[in-house]
Amino acid sequence: MIREIVKYPDPILQKPTEPVTEFNEELRTLVDDMFESMYAAQGIGLAAPQIGVSKRITVIDLSFKKNPEEKIVLINPEIIFKQGKQNEEEGCLSLPEIREKVSRAENVRVRAQNVKGEWFEIDGEELLARAFQHEIDHLDGILFIFRVSALKRDLLLRKIRKMQKNGEW
Ligand code: NI
Repeated sequence: MIREIVKYPDPILQKPTEPVTEFNEELRTLVDDMFESMYAAQGIGLAAPQIGVSKRITVIDLSFKKNPEEKIVLINPEIIFKQGKQNEEEGCLSLPEIREKVSRAENVRVRAQNVKGEWFEIDGEELLARAFQHEIDHLDGILFIFRVSALKRDLLLRKIRKMQKNGEW
């Protein structure tokens, strides 16, 4: 089922999520819904709070449906290692039309559970590392506009307010 994407400034986006403790049918349905909603919104990453569910779950597919092997589900993820630096533009389904360069680690290792509750580790570099960091930030209640300088953030927030005022948000 496609669920509506929650947009800034909905408070659920700025609240740390609850860990997942039950690995059941309901969780599998939620994960399926997350992929479906992400694809419908033309995204390559989605965190549960973005469909209004404050749980520690994120899905990523950098191939956008082209390669099933690139579908990644991270439940209760934590970054256990980071190295290097990259500074590239990011966007977010909860912040439509907003883009800004964000400084992130170049390589990260994530420890997470799959839908069965089994723990695994996964490495990412460049865009995948960026996706891991962006999505795990969501699970901690942090949007990318709060990872840029105060000056840039003010400009972005002003743009958002203008779009809201014009009914474009
Ligand atoms: Ni996002």
